[in-house]
Amino acid sequence: MITATAHPNIALAKYWGKRNEELNLPAVGSISITLDSLSSITSVQFINSDKRDIFYLNGKLAEESEQIKITNFLNNFRKLSGFKSFVEVKTENNFPTSAGLASSASGFAALTKAADSLFSLNLSDRELSQIARLGSGSASRSIFGGFTEWHKGITDDGSDCYAEQIAAEGHFPLSVIIAVTSNKSKKISSRTGMKNSAQTSPFYETFVKSSENDIIKLRKAILERDFSTLAEISMSSTIKMHSVMMTTEPPLFYWNSKTFEIIELIRNLHFQKVPVFFSIDAGPQVKIITPKGEENYVLKKLETVNQIEKIFVCSLGKGAEIIEGKF
Ligand code: PMV
Repeated sequence: MITATAHPNIALAKYWGKRNEELNLPAVGSISITLDSLSSITSVQFINSDKRDIFYLNGKLAEESEQIKITNFLNNFRKLSGFKSFVEVKTENNFPTSAGLASSASGFAALTKAADSLFSLNLSDRELSQIARLGSGSASRSIFGGFTEWHKGITDDGSDCYAEQIAAEGHFPLSVIIAVTSNKSKKISSRTGMKNSAQTSPFYETFVKSSENDIIKLRKAILERDFSTLAEISMSSTIKMHSVMMTTEPPLFYWNSKTFEIIELIRNLHFQKVPVFFSIDAGPQVKIITPKGEENYVLKKLETVNQIEKIFVCSLGKGAEIIEGKF
């Protein structure tokens, strides 16, 4: 048995929309930070079944649609290695699954790392990011720790579409406070949501065009440890992506009243020159980013918002790694 772990990542320059559905090639590049304390732990082993793979998620046999997703994903490893065996996959997340906390990113990154070892492929991290992408686009970024860029590439076969590390976790220490405003799973998958956005949102093309400049500015801000530019570009990317989501038919409205309340609090702090900004993905949770050491001040301010379901405080973390079995 082989066990790997990986962590969710939060995009600062957001990915929303594909240029190729089948290969999961994104319409835009993206830049993210990988977290430390939230984890997916995935164990894999070959099984003596002539019928199928088996996937357990958080201790329970996963739904049929999830089983199919995992089998399709493992087919990539069977194809590359020539081994036909079926696999038992067990994934445990220590945080809510499918609630806008990037559990698919950490889950597929951990599975990619574990399956690479199980099928004795020894692929490079770049190649792992390309396989992880087939499970979930954002999983390509969780292969790496610290600050990661996922290149959209331009080739039809996706050979130039991969993730790579911009800087390690210690380069620019940040704290990430995650305010969970609802534990409910999302109703519409990112895959369907993105497709609808590309077809119906009048703002989609503008988002795609403007993301190129965001990527250039963010990369530079990370390398120069320029928190103020990091904050401006990240918040702008979040707001642009959610404008696209909200103007999609049918609308993708992920925020609830708590989400708004926290956005207002963080924006006020930002205007008062407190080094802090927010980021939100396909769910109602608010991720609040500060330079390391400033998080307690922001946590104190957050106490004024009632009924936040849960708060996680993370630092930047490492990429996917094997924790048990063949290294
Ligand atoms: O690759 P997916 O299906 O996890 O989509 C991720 C999309 C967002 O989280 C909303 C943005 C991003 O870049 O992570």
